[in-house]
Amino acid sequence: MDIFRTKSVEQSIRDTEAPEHQLRKRLTATDLTVFGIGVIVGTGIFVLTGQVARDVAGPAVAVSFVVAGIVCGLAALCYAEFASTIPVAGSAYTFSFATLGEFPAWVIGWDLILELALAAAVVSVGWSGYFASLLASLGLELPASIAGADPVVNVPAVLIVLILTAVLVAGIKLSSRVNLILVITKIAVVLLVIVAGLFFVNGANYTPFIPDPISTPRVEGLQAPLVQVLFGIEPVAFGVIGIFSAAAIVFFAFIGFDIVATAAEETIEPQHDVPRGIIGSLAICTVLYVAVSLVVVGMQKYSQLSEAAPLSDAFISVGQPWLATIISVGAIAGLTTVVLVLLLGQTRVLFAMCRDGLLPRSLAVVHPTFGTPARLTIIIGLVTMALAGFVSFGELAELVNIGTLFAFVVVSLGVIILRRTRPDLPRAFRAPLVPWLPILSVLACLYLMLNLPVQTWLRFLVWMAIGIVLYFAYGYRHSRTAAAPWRSSGE
Ligand code: ALA
Repeated sequence: MDIFRTKSVEQSIRDTEAPEHQLRKRLTATDLTVFGIGVIVGTGIFVLTGQVARDVAGPAVAVSFVVAGIVCGLAALCYAEFASTIPVAGSAYTFSFATLGEFPAWVIGWDLILELALAAAVVSVGWSGYFASLLASLGLELPASIAGADPVVNVPAVLIVLILTAVLVAGIKLSSRVNLILVITKIAVVLLVIVAGLFFVNGANYTPFIPDPISTPRVEGLQAPLVQVLFGIEPVAFGVIGIFSAAAIVFFAFIGFDIVATAAEETIEPQHDVPRGIIGSLAICTVLYVAVSLVVVGMQKYSQLSEAAPLSDAFISVGQPWLATIISVGAIAGLTTVVLVLLLGQTRVLFAMCRDGLLPRSLAVVHPTFGTPARLTIIIGLVTMALAGFVSFGELAELVNIGTLFAFVVVSLGVIILRRTRPDLPRAFRAPLVPWLPILSVLACLYLMLNLPVQTWLRFLVWMAIGIVLYFAYGYRHSRTAAAPWRSSGE
């Protein structure tokens, strides 16, 4: 049984050239950076910042953003090298197929569903929350059964996914244009928070900058970070330990730069533009996050930050409700682009998996007029709508994080492996200090994973077990790599 058969890099690139499976090449480095920022700046900064400052890290949440940013920076360099070597749709999935083999690739592809589709659903629920609160500020209350904290069906969340699915089916160029307008609005609002917020900062709110560690219900039982349980530490929030627990959560705010790599196949000059897009969008976002979090914890005592809309509520707390309304509008725009790009990334990863036969190949057909994988996009849209209608926001972000960190670990290992197995391949971008930098990236990601709650680990393991069963029931037997043994490595 050869579950570690690999698919050669040349074959991966050749597969993209069959006309009926070909995506159009139209994107530039700027488009990619916009896509990157479009998916990176979202729920993480607009919602999680407040929650995490209040419950886990205090004003030191700004330090947590730096920690998470560094971990992502290390992984980003590995992603950039990979994407410049194998510019094919599918991101981490394709990279692992070329290096570790079919089974690990399937595991990663399955894991990426956790990152992408689940994150799209989670963010659309966040979108719905801001949308409902904006309508409320205009005097229009939505019934509790269709929106708000605990609806029967979250109707605005379902509708936003429906609209964005239609946009994606219609074509990628349209989506990057829509995206550009939304991203500009979002960045303008983030800058507004930083600049306007500075006038309302009260120095006293920064003390204590790192609150003393305490035991709270937030870290009891299955909610305790795995690392604290493993080492027999009594689970606590705040303190220096809290900075790292918080980093594992605000990591969510950085998710998305890796998705730039999924658009490599649609990029005009992927070898140069993909690394630029990945690193550029990550750097811009890190600076914005640290600034926003410092301003917000300076405006309002961390223990009083709101859970649902901390950025706009901080402005209400200093008597500026009109600024709060503008920020809500920006959040709605911001979260829209996040859902859009997450859905796009998910389509591209599944597209690559279908093309390889690990999922039904008939799904990976490009629509003759739109040039997009319309069938697959609609299926993903429907699944995400079902999730968005019924899931609640809470702990699912942590599940998304563990899935993403796992993918980063595999990609970092893949860089070391591919340097050894295929030193000959042209690499337009080379990560510095290989193998040390990828090893550091692996360790840093694992460390953040350990800081996630026990419960998140259990859910993650169950999801992966389901994926493994599916592989042996379907993928292993239908794989195109199996049908064409000359594609395997060493040939
Ligand atoms: N980084 C994205 C967000 O913050 C997923 O919403």
